[in-house]
Amino acid sequence: MDDLRDKYIQAIADASDEDAIEALRVQAVGKKGEISLKMRELGKMTPEERQVVGPALNALKDEINSALAAKKVALADAALEERLRTEWLDVTLPGRSRREGSIHPVSQVWEECTAIFADMGFAVAEGPQVETDWYNFDALNIPGHHPARAEMDTFYMARAEGDNRPPHVLRTHTSPVQIRSMEMAGAPLRIICPGRVYRADYDQTHTPMFHQVEGLAIDKDISMANLKWVLEEFFSAYFGTEVKTRFRASHFPFTEPSAEVDIQCSFEGGTVKVGEGDDWLEVLGSGMVHPKVLAAGNIDPAAWQGFAFGMGIDRIAMLKYGIPDLRPFFDSDLRWLRHYGFASLDVPTIRGGLSR
Ligand code: PHE
Repeated sequence: MDDLRDKYIQAIADASDEDAIEALRVQAVGKKGEISLKMRELGKMTPEERQVVGPALNALKDEINSALAAKKVALADAALEERLRTEWLDVTLPGRSRREGSIHPVSQVWEECTAIFADMGFAVAEGPQVETDWYNFDALNIPGHHPARAEMDTFYMARAEGDNRPPHVLRTHTSPVQIRSMEMAGAPLRIICPGRVYRADYDQTHTPMFHQVEGLAIDKDISMANLKWVLEEFFSAYFGTEVKTRFRASHFPFTEPSAEVDIQCSFEGGTVKVGEGDDWLEVLGSGMVHPKVLAAGNIDPAAWQGFAFGMGIDRIAMLKYGIPDLRPFFDSDLRWLRHYGFASLDVPTIRGGLSR
């Protein structure tokens, strides 16, 4: 019995993890363990023998059980010690700060436009950037031979060889969304469409991709007066100050009459200030929707009429936030974005409470 005792006490002392402890428990005091088997032999002994061996075996079993339990606790303590030693953390170290991103001026102005026109009851519509030549031109009363097609410096998509259908285009303006919206929703209608447009042009104020917001209002008795009110209301809310507008007679195939709209500004000291001075800056094209355009959108021109306008988002972003050059808008230069971008939780407000 002393041999048994020495064997297990030593093995328990040497065990290095819980699995080993469990294996020893099974081997010694489990149902078929060495000591349990010995206990079964008690039945074959004489009462005298049993009186000596029984208590001794019981004592040995108790001793081994407590050695197992003590070793288990010791192992758990050691494991915890090891974790505390390796997983320490110096909470007094200064934090590692992360640079925040910023909202691009175009996104900012896009949101501002959406908010202001929403206040006047305009919903937001969208259309594809790769457009059919019907939506971009024909439906807008720009037939195949029309000089406006050449003037727009259109990007044409490629057709497979032998496919003679007119090529798709990168939309040159957001006006095709007028047609798509008329087809989809019918009259009456009041939408704006902010989006990307494309023209092959590149200098300080032109990039091959830029942004427009289209406006369209169709009803029984819409007039140029409504157009003027909506635009002046928009500019005053957007620039946060009363802004005079100047309507110049112009020509677009899809509006009749047509007007280009300038806003009042000053150019003193090399910076543009909107809403003061006696200079003018062109910001959009507009007019009354041409009857042929209404008809192309499945709206009866004898019953309905409306106004439309198309405004440069980048242009009015440059004006409001004093950005002199358009090209860096799309360079993804982090220094520019940090300088002109907006913090996501600290955006400038538009003038609230429209004067209606
Ligand atoms: N689509 C015109 C342009 O891109 C702008 C415009 C829109 C003019 C709607 C009149 C009416 O220049």
